Amino acid sequence: MAVQTVASTTDNATDTVTVDLGPAAALSCRECGHRVPLGPVFACEECFGPLEIAYDFSAYDTEELRRQIEAGPANIWRYAPLLPVPADVATKPNINPGWTQLVKADNLARELGVTGGLYVKDDSGNPTHSFKDRVVAQALEAARAFGFTTLSCSSTGNLAGAVGAAAARAGFRSCVFIPHDLEQGKVVMAAVYGGELVGIEGNYDDVNRFCSELIGDPAGEGWGFVNVNLRPYYAEGSKTLAYEICEQLGWQLPDQLVVPIASGSQLTKIDKGLQELIKLGLVEDKPYKIFGAQAEGCSPVSVAFKGGHDVVRPQKPNTIAKSLAIGNPADGPYVLDIARRTGGAVEDVNDEQVVDAIKLLARTEGIFAETAGGVTVGVTRKLIEDGVLDPTLTTVVLNTGDGLKTLDAVAGTGLTATIRPNLDSFREAGLA
Ligand SMILES: Cc1ncc(COP(=O)(O)O)c(C=O)c1O
Ligand SMILES: [Zn+2]
Repeated sequence: MAVQTVASTTDNATDTVTVDLGPAAALSCRECGHRVPLGPVFACEECFGPLEIAYDFSAYDTEELRRQIEAGPANIWRYAPLLPVPADVATKPNINPGWTQLVKADNLARELGVTGGLYVKDDSGNPTHSFKDRVVAQALEAARAFGFTTLSCSSTGNLAGAVGAAAARAGFRSCVFIPHDLEQGKVVMAAVYGGELVGIEGNYDDVNRFCSELIGDPAGEGWGFVNVNLRPYYAEGSKTLAYEICEQLGWQLPDQLVVPIASGSQLTKIDKGLQELIKLGLVEDKPYKIFGAQAEGCSPVSVAFKGGHDVVRPQKPNTIAKSLAIGNPADGPYVLDIARRTGGAVEDVNDEQVVDAIKLLARTEGIFAETAGGVTVGVTRKLIEDGVLDPTLTTVVLNTGDGLKTLDAVAGTGLTATIRPNLDSFREAGLA
């Protein structure tokens, strides 16, 4: 793998450090294509568009690469040749997420009338119980490569926990920012790792704005904000969901995917991952459709999609799906492009439908999803009912987080009965 000379951390732009960033070749502007050397930058100097990683995969032999991946570890690093990480990552402390279960959801399929094969990619199985471990694992390696010693982020909850855990494992300081009124499960899960956790009086969009200010201030100097100045690297972690789904399906593309949307980063990178697998010849090229899922109380992308608009108009979130409550999603327009290009759609469900879907998934498949998983399952159901999602095709639904973090959503669920410890009492309760 190529060793690259990259711009180093902070204020002295003339400094360079030499690190191995795998096959990553440069940062490229998503809007105008302008390329800059790899570094902790995230916005194009020409047009302020978002920067993303451009790769040089030209040296890879498809079958050799497939063998290398299959012989790799049971975590995201099996895809290291396709990720912007130092090659010796295995020797450094990281939370090593990924290779989560792809559950063949036959019971759920029966309930929903899906005949073409229904799967749940269950990312609640990651170290801090959400898909955010994938993106943080990448950002941590980038932070290390660029010489940062503090990890930070603005978070709707899950990212805070993932950053706290990764920083603890790797010996970084962490200081993360969340809306002050998140679910207790998310707050505890983020605080327990011992880093600093700051509640901001405002919603996620306020938190994010604050972090952008902090980055430009001496107080934030030397900090790696995983979803801001490390965003190009962070975002690549979501590609591993696409890689895993295809590998677990026997190196095949699914026909349809249902993906939750907060900022939209995950959905766009799943598409990028699928495109890379096609280009590399690791899967046979065929059409696939990507469907985006939002909660009605925070549905700026869904509203734009259904209205036929290219512009995503910001909303003030009000939903129990707090992990998805980003009213001004950075990647919203790109999500619209992908849904339209692939023939998918973006849909939303209300809070009641989210709760119903959490219970449906739990009852049929033994998977306890957080509210974001309720959103994807609920939207899947709605899209089938509306004839938008084809039940005769292979469909993968993402569950990106663990229900234990959003217990309040199903607070009415509890004991069937309370009985005295004898059989008469058991019979009296009608349980015999
Ligand atoms: C559980 C869960 N699923 C999905 C998402 C969506 O992520 P993105 O911002 O990449 O759209 C988030 C974001 O916080 C999340 O916490
Ligand atoms: Zn640009």
